[in-house]
Amino acid sequence: MIKLILGLQFGDEGKGKITDFVSNEKSILVRYNGGTNAGHTVVTDKGKFKFHLLPAGSLRAKSVVLGNGMVIDPAAFIDELKEIQKENLSLDVRISSAACVVTDMHKYIDREQEKIRGDMKIGTTSHGIGPTYEEKYSRNSIRIGDLSDLGIIQRKLKLIREIRYSEIKNSPYMNDDELMKMAANLHRTWETIGKYVCRTESFLMDAVKKHEDMIFEGGHGSLLDIDFGTYPYVTSSNTISGAMHTGSGVSLRKVDSIIGVVKAYTSRVGEGPFPTELHGTEAEELRAAGGEYGTTTGRPRRVGWLDIPLLRYTAELNDIDQLAITKLDVLGSTKKIKICTSYGKNVINPINALLGKEKPEPQYIELDGWGNLSDEEIQQMIKRGYSSLPEKMRNYVETVEKLVNIPVSIISIGQIRGSTIQKN
Ligand code: GDP
Ligand code: IMO
Ligand code: MG
Repeated sequence: MIKLILGLQFGDEGKGKITDFVSNEKSILVRYNGGTNAGHTVVTDKGKFKFHLLPAGSLRAKSVVLGNGMVIDPAAFIDELKEIQKENLSLDVRISSAACVVTDMHKYIDREQEKIRGDMKIGTTSHGIGPTYEEKYSRNSIRIGDLSDLGIIQRKLKLIREIRYSEIKNSPYMNDDELMKMAANLHRTWETIGKYVCRTESFLMDAVKKHEDMIFEGGHGSLLDIDFGTYPYVTSSNTISGAMHTGSGVSLRKVDSIIGVVKAYTSRVGEGPFPTELHGTEAEELRAAGGEYGTTTGRPRRVGWLDIPLLRYTAELNDIDQLAITKLDVLGSTKKIKICTSYGKNVINPINALLGKEKPEPQYIELDGWGNLSDEEIQQMIKRGYSSLPEKMRNYVETVEKLVNIPVSIISIGQIRGSTIQKN
């Protein structure tokens, strides 16, 4: 069985928790886009685990693959792997030799570009993601496979420095010793990661032929897609389902099921349009209830109501088969829950409305909250299944199902690993 799991909003939908739920000891897990700008939290009885490069099911999977579509900071990878290997000793790891390397110079450029943008800033994670993808497409990038060769690293760094002179002329990297130190540090990472590096597409194609259990985990959210998201307030990779093919080498046609993860409300980190955004006390209460602070940067996330016009758009873009709804427990404490069902009669195309070409006037329906659930109640509901959920919560789930016209198959009602219910 091959599953593809991705987020349908602006990221942080709870994809990590769902990947962890769906994975098991036989799974091969694959990341295919982005880098450490992604942050997925998984909470088990052993504590809180944060994933940035490794797929979120790595705690118990058989095998993980970091695909060619990723941009990888080698030192960050080594640190993250060390932590996860403490829990999953036998985890088998593969990194694509074609993935691009994020260097400290690219993080510097990311920060500088944001300064230059001024009030046009994007609010990036400063993890060097955009500049590294620029390097990839200008064909100057250091790729993971290059880390074995100090000479290549040095030549590429010098080339990048020359081409990007105007961006880095005030940086420490103009100093040859600094640049060479960076080259040596990058090369040194090969001692640890070299054994994991290969043409991952061959391994994956083979796994498909052997009918292995595979889960592809998308980073970020669909509305952060470089082409279809709220450009320029997006990340620098494609985040929709098709990115899985170009980012791993496995055809989307091999996927049995595409699962779209939806948070029961909406959140966004960084700048960009957000029609259903809440402000003031309402926002503060929801942010506090949901612990809405970035996994990667710790920034407070902007929060708002569920946005159906956007979900319809991203569900169609990704060709979603089933929905997973997360954080229903968080919404319960709100007395009257709103769902935006349309942007008003004047809006023809929701993404145009987001891009400022049409003016969204969100229209809401109101549903009753189901109150706070105690840990004990949640445990009982998990044992008894969907029909034991509060009627008002089921009404919320079924309303979303009808409005988006896609079945909800997974329901998450708590942060802890077990608090997830399979609906069908
Ligand atoms: P991702 O980037 O999509 O994987 O999401 P993040 O991990 O960045 O953010 C989601 C946050 O919500 C994490 O802290 C999760 O542990 C937490 N979470 C996920 N599902 C639930 C849920 O159903 N209820 C609660 N209370 N927290 C959840
Ligand atoms: P996960 O996988 C939330 C946002 C950043 C910023 C914009 C561009 O955890 O859902 P970048 O550093 O990528 O150039 O920043 O994209 N962003 C995310 N927001 N969750 C993410 O990933 C994100 N990845 C990027 O906050 O607004
Ligand atoms: Mg996240």
